[in-house]
Amino acid sequence: MTWRSWSDQAGNGLEWIQLIQQNLSGSILASCVVLAIVDSQDHSDPALQRSFFFNSIWILMSSDVNPAIEGSRCLVTGGAGFIGSHLVEGILAAGGKVRVLDNFSTGFRHNLDQFEDGQVELLEGDASDFAVVQQAVVDVDLVFHAAAMASVPRSMREPDLCHAWCTTSTVNLLQASAAAGVRRLVLSSTSAAYGDSTFVSKRETDPSAPLSPYAAAKLAAESYCHAFQRSFEIETVVLRYFNVFGPRQDPKSEYSAVIPKFVSMILSGERPVIFGDGNQSRDFVFVKDVVQANLLAATAVDAPGGTFNIARGERTTLLELLTTLRKILDQHIEPIHEPPRVGDVRDSLADISEARRRLNFEPATTIAEGLQRSVEYYRSLI
Ligand SMILES: NC(=O)c1ccc[n+]([C@@H]2O[C@H](COP(=O)([O-])OP(=O)(O)OC[C@H]3O[C@@H](n4cnc5c(N)ncnc54)[C@H](O)[C@@H]3O)[C@@H](O)[C@H]2O)c1
Repeated sequence: MTWRSWSDQAGNGLEWIQLIQQNLSGSILASCVVLAIVDSQDHSDPALQRSFFFNSIWILMSSDVNPAIEGSRCLVTGGAGFIGSHLVEGILAAGGKVRVLDNFSTGFRHNLDQFEDGQVELLEGDASDFAVVQQAVVDVDLVFHAAAMASVPRSMREPDLCHAWCTTSTVNLLQASAAAGVRRLVLSSTSAAYGDSTFVSKRETDPSAPLSPYAAAKLAAESYCHAFQRSFEIETVVLRYFNVFGPRQDPKSEYSAVIPKFVSMILSGERPVIFGDGNQSRDFVFVKDVVQANLLAATAVDAPGGTFNIARGERTTLLELLTTLRKILDQHIEPIHEPPRVGDVRDSLADISEARRRLNFEPATTIAEGLQRSVEYYRSLI
């Protein structure tokens, strides 16, 4: 963030302090800020005092490393999965240390291959087992809970297992984390919580209406996060992702999401399948933006206790998506239409103003750029 954008955003003293805290939560840097304030008291000219104070803070902010993540010991559950493995990458890049807990039900060891030996501590186990989770949170500062059964159709077939992986795992992590002195837990939740309400952009204050066991289990997990934030010594933040896409999203599973399925089918010369007429819409967000949202959620002072939509705030129909993909791939295959799937929502669009305001979240990758990067990845697999 530039000095100008900080100045533009910070209207009064309190906002300044909040912005500084969001970006400077490391104790050493916080001490430096205090010293800068104290030192500025020695100057008699108030304009000089102000300039000295802001310049001191500017010097401290110039570093690219996020001080709250830097040096923090982070647990990423589901770190061998699609979003989790990008999260691991983002935390390491920000100077954090990472432990991954994964049961490899839908995650892959090769998603962690890119990391050098010793960079990531891997714990193979199930987050619905309390003893495993107790071990996973030892000496951890921040928990990013991304492990889940991340599939609506699978949750319709195995609701009990979905409850264990989405809800029980969250209760286990909250209980063990609070006992172990973890500072903050960020939950990967879902826009499926809103259900199939009439077509308007969803706000976090809208009523929830889960249609699937997956949505119900995630909503229960969200409620546990809020209860622990209010009644235990742990901060919690809930992120409701809309449709995340990007490299490493599995195209092979029968429960695969629409983008990896479309790309892999077109690349292999098959006609992509659309359930319904193709005018159903989604709010797609590139995985790197979701990582950024997690890092902000783990560090922003105003985040704890909050629920935030994470998306681009843009509506794309499946037919529009297909048109963009066909252009990128230079293919003109017609889709096959099949009946709509039970439990799927018709339209999904996010209002992301709350995440913008309290997390300073701004999605940076357009759908076309994200699709281009995803296509490059899927091509590299052929
Ligand atoms: N991909 C999306 O569009 C999307 C949208 C909304 C929410 N989410 C949420 O984001 C998170 C990550 O999703 P993803 O798309 O990366 O899915 P994924 O299936 O690629 O990742 C989930 C990971 O969790 C692991 N896992 C599952 N249950 C576990 C358990 N009980 N113990 C330990 N590990 C377990 C899996 O092996 C996998 O590595 C999930 O919580 C999902 O509900 C994803």
